[in-house]
Amino acid sequence: MKSLMITKYGELSTSLEIQEVPIPTIAPNQILIKTHASSFNPLDYKIVRGDFKAMRKIQFPKGIGRDVSGVIEQVGEKVEKFKAGEKVCSRIDESLVGTMADYVISNADDVSLVPSNLTHEEIAGIPLAGLTSYQALIDVAKLLPGENILIHAGAGGVGSIAIQLAKHLGAKVTTTTSTKNIGLVQKLGADNIIDYTKQSYLDEGPKFDVVFDTLGGKYTLDSFKILKKGGRVISIAGDVDNITTKQLGLNRIIRFLLRLKAKRVTNAASKIGARYRFLLMSPNGDQLKKLVKLYESGLIKPVIDKAYKFDESIQALEYLSKGRAKGKVIVKFIE
Ligand SMILES: NC(=O)c1ccc[n+]([C@@H]2O[C@H](COP(=O)([O-])OP(=O)(O)OC[C@H]3O[C@@H](n4cnc5c(N)ncnc54)[C@H](OP(=O)(O)O)[C@@H]3O)[C@@H](O)[C@H]2O)c1
Repeated sequence: MKSLMITKYGELSTSLEIQEVPIPTIAPNQILIKTHASSFNPLDYKIVRGDFKAMRKIQFPKGIGRDVSGVIEQVGEKVEKFKAGEKVCSRIDESLVGTMADYVISNADDVSLVPSNLTHEEIAGIPLAGLTSYQALIDVAKLLPGENILIHAGAGGVGSIAIQLAKHLGAKVTTTTSTKNIGLVQKLGADNIIDYTKQSYLDEGPKFDVVFDTLGGKYTLDSFKILKKGGRVISIAGDVDNITTKQLGLNRIIRFLLRLKAKRVTNAASKIGARYRFLLMSPNGDQLKKLVKLYESGLIKPVIDKAYKFDESIQALEYLSKGRAKGKVIVKFIE
């Protein structure tokens, strides 16, 4: 089968290659999926660039991609919930990474059936970005109806889902975007839109119960300037917290250095009795099923920026890496 492989750390144009590799074999609790569509996430280009090489080294060549939508080709002998021929999606486990390939293996626990009223292209954008929004807003923030939330980068892969999910949960949503994407975030249901090219979100004052920080850097620290006392900041791009460093199994020295790096953020949180959490999303078939139901009933609408052919997958990742995607960047395997 064909699979897009990372061959070394570096530029996307010189570190990725479509190679011929064997079709993987499944363990008893796994499923083999024939890929119809997949999607890229910023994690994919960050890994190729070597952003995480101090934490975890890669053995090259290595597959790329974590989202898959396709049809079950084969199920392991212990799998009871699924059968060959069913339409499914998954955010596959890190140990199985490589969804930019003709066939993909997923643990059965990470898989959800998908309805016929959604195309594979629409579904492929749901797993990683959708579960990130779900886990950030529901599991970590425990967002309540009527609460005020600021969602940064509302036009992005995660933000475009988070706005719709937060509205579904009954929250009042403020989001940041550039002028060209105002119409998009309005359509997604944002109540208050801040065009960051003309206006600073810091002018909002300390009115938010929750800030969903999808940008990191100065945005993480500045979140506490607009947070109510006792509020919550959930970041997916800022400083890593203690819970996450343990989750990643990092050694004591790296954990100590990361704790030191996060000191300004943890101090800012404790000054106003706020809670800071970094979320490292994880695969979860049950949550994915609930998310897919929201799409099936039209409560969340897929937002696709561009769908590329598999032959153009390197261009697709280059496009995403510019940081200007509106919703999800999809790769199609079957027309
Ligand atoms: N920790 C985790 O488990 C986890 C999971 C998923 C994602 N992430 C991380 O979360 C971040 C966002 O992911 P994503 O998939 O949403 O990325 P993305 O789709 O590439 O985000 C692109 C969007 O960001 C917007 N944007 C860029 N700069 C902005 C700014 N200063 N203010 C407001 N909007 C801005 C752009 O809109 P404009 O063109 O209008 O500026 C664009 O629509 C990435 O760093 C990713 O690695 C982490």
